[in-house]
Amino acid sequence: MAGLNVILLGPPGAGKGTQAERIRQEFGLVHVSTGDMLREAVAQGTELGARAKSFMDAGELVPDEVVTGIVAERLGQPDAAAGFLLDGFPRSLAQAEELDRQLEASGRRVTLAVAIAVPEAELLQRLTGRRLCRQCQKPYHTVFSPPKVENICDECGGEIYQRSDDSEATVQNRLEVYRKQTEPLIGYYRKLGVPTEIDGVGHPDEIYERIREILARAREQLDC
Ligand code: AP5
Ligand code: MG
Ligand code: ZN
Repeated sequence: MAGLNVILLGPPGAGKGTQAERIRQEFGLVHVSTGDMLREAVAQGTELGARAKSFMDAGELVPDEVVTGIVAERLGQPDAAAGFLLDGFPRSLAQAEELDRQLEASGRRVTLAVAIAVPEAELLQRLTGRRLCRQCQKPYHTVFSPPKVENICDECGGEIYQRSDDSEATVQNRLEVYRKQTEPLIGYYRKLGVPTEIDGVGHPDEIYERIREILARAREQLDC
């Protein structure tokens, strides 16, 4: 049976990570977040981390060949054959084309792309107030969703921290990079007949319902 291969598109702060966790739990897809993988490499002090760090701190894209390499490796692992969820990748036309080539080589394709739309003023507010668990990556927000105990993750007891690229100046640049380099991908996937734009404003549970419906329908179509 073909797997459900989903791309989560959307600007920084749209809620990709927040929704990915819910999707992973219900649909059992392998969650591949290039941002999480790169941050992990930086934290571990690997060669990949050293190459990526300055781009990430500036809110710029890490070079395509660096990122497509780590994604190819992850999607080549056996568990990804049953279906995957890409969060934060592809982010440029070159990455999208390379992904299509890689998938085709293993008899797969993108099933659908979900683009989460959120107005820029709200993105700024979400990102500058965002906090994360250092251990399990669960996202929190100082105002919208603080942890029950200050600085401690509700789920795993891990320490809560702020991402170094969530300062206001870097967020502004990330939004600009998104507009220039990533937003055109919505048109790319529309041409392939797979994109679905959803309204990303509201409670995360409401937004998840919107995404859930689209994925459930796509899964039914795959099964028959
Ligand atoms: P990455 O980690 O992918 O960051 P991003 O795309 O900027 O997106 P974010 O993770 O900031 O936002 P999100 O959509 O996941 O939102 P979240 O759920 O956390 O990339 C970081 C960097 O790595 C890049 O700048 C680049 O340098 C590099 N990189 C990564 N991938 C790359 C690639 N493919 N190519 C090249 N370079 C790459 O939510 C945000 C906040 O809002 C949280 O506080 C959350 O609690 C809150 N929130 C979520 N939903 C709601 C809601 N409905 N209402 C209110 N608040 C909400
Ligand atoms: Mg994220
Ligand atoms: Zn945690």
